[in-house]
Amino acid sequence: MSSKVLLLQRRVALLTTLALLGACPPLVVDGGADATAEGEGEGNGDVDVDSSGLTADRVVAPADGLAVVSVTVVVVDRAGAPVTGRAVQLTATSSTTGALALTAPETTAGDGRLVARLSALRPTTVTVTADVDDGVATTRLGPLTVTFSPCLSLEEAFVADVWGPVFSRCIGCHNEYGLAVTPPTANRHVLRFPGDVDFAAHNVDVLRSLARQDVTPGLSLLLALPTGQVGHSGGVVIAPDSPEEQVLATFVERLRREDDVCGEGAVAPLEAALADLSLLSRRSTLARARLALASQPLSPADEALPLATDEELDAALVALLDTPAAANRVVAIYNDWLWTDRFTREVTRTTSGVNQLLVRLAAQFGPRRFYFQPEGTGGQQCDPATDVCCGEAGSPYPGSCVQPTAGNNAADSLAREPLELVRHVWSEGLPVDTLATGDFTMANPYTAILYGFNPQAPEWTFDDVNTAANDRAEFHPLRLRDTPANELVAQPGVGDRFPHAGLLTPHAVM
Ligand code: HEC
Repeated sequence: MSSKVLLLQRRVALLTTLALLGACPPLVVDGGADATAEGEGEGNGDVDVDSSGLTADRVVAPADGLAVVSVTVVVVDRAGAPVTGRAVQLTATSSTTGALALTAPETTAGDGRLVARLSALRPTTVTVTADVDDGVATTRLGPLTVTFSPCLSLEEAFVADVWGPVFSRCIGCHNEYGLAVTPPTANRHVLRFPGDVDFAAHNVDVLRSLARQDVTPGLSLLLALPTGQVGHSGGVVIAPDSPEEQVLATFVERLRREDDVCGEGAVAPLEAALADLSLLSRRSTLARARLALASQPLSPADEALPLATDEELDAALVALLDTPAAANRVVAIYNDWLWTDRFTREVTRTTSGVNQLLVRLAAQFGPRRFYFQPEGTGGQQCDPATDVCCGEAGSPYPGSCVQPTAGNNAADSLAREPLELVRHVWSEGLPVDTLATGDFTMANPYTAILYGFNPQAPEWTFDDVNTAANDRAEFHPLRLRDTPANELVAQPGVGDRFPHAGLLTPHAVM
């Protein structure tokens, strides 16, 4: 696998992880609270199948979405005594593949019990059986069914789905000091504000008892009053037939049920959000990718690709990543972030008309920053009549005098140093951390000269085509060292090596 694919996979993995952290609903266990199952058939051994059995209990459904259920096996003998130290083989089978874990001791403890933990990452139905050594053969206990379903608890649903659209509109009157609670009204509908202790738990308790009171048989007080079906001093707060009424009605329904663990028909937010999604065809996916990464429509060659399998799509995407257009796009993305192109002549001319970067580097490069300027007094001005420097702050010659194109090329190349490092890392498939740890910079003949190297230097790796078009694009990795044009105070223990740190140390970034 090329490291670019690896790079891509890492980024995709990072994004998916973030999305999941944000959206993954906790799994809860349906019917697990007191689900029990007894043994089947009559064993020949000492185990009493009728009094032995399996139970499941929800332990936790923490925010990481990993629901844990404790499964307890009780083994009792025909005399009614707990059987200790007895070998039990627990088996859990899931209706879906993967993401299921069962940890269990091998034998029953002193009280004839064996407690196992069952956890699932995905919604699934799990069938648990226990094969107990009964002295002669094995007796099977179970099956016990545990459902991990991805819906929200009442408290979670209150916070996530119901508070905002419905009850945030009631609390103005229905709080401790609100209109609805003013004596002589003995109002039971007193809500707590977000951030109060037990915000969700308290409010769900209050609302549960209101929801279970009928104004007419089957019509809940909690639904009837705010929707104006019965006189309410607060008036019609929730418009009949509105989406809010639907949210309230569904929640009231759930509050009225005796056995709500998860809520029959309660839809997980993630499922609901994804329900209407359908995947693009492979060719449309490629078209999107080409537009996003290369700013190009599908080519006739793309149209002709078979794309019958995901592998073929992957191959087409990898080929797309190898194009110069994709590299340009990545560079553009990094420029959006670093905005180092503000130092290019094209941009600076519209702002202050100077090669800002070169000017800033007066101390660093000394007179050499004018290496590419036309001849004149001091070797740096482009108008011998006035001695005004080209490319200096306040120059009235943004381009009307002898325009120092080579000076612009040098300034542009210096500005592009960090982005060329990005291009290099991308194109060579280097690890992403090279962007921060690279012990080299990217230079072309212009910047190499600025940094004090000449074609005789051992570091000079550039070709002999000395045209601006060629030189501007000819970026090579270069390890800087102390040169007369790039003076460095010797670093303790390091000497006069130039300390590189990838993107962090080029002049355009510092
Ligand atoms: C403008 C103030 C106001 C708003 C807003 C308001 N109410 Fe009321 N509500 C009252 C008052 C006053 C009472 C007591 C007199 C009555 O029953 O009409 C009351 C009573 C109730 C009762 C009866 C409580 C009991 O103990 O019998 C319920 C249920 C109720 N409101 C639900 C709601 C819901 C649900 C909302 C929000 C969707 C809401 N109210 C918004 C003022 C308001």
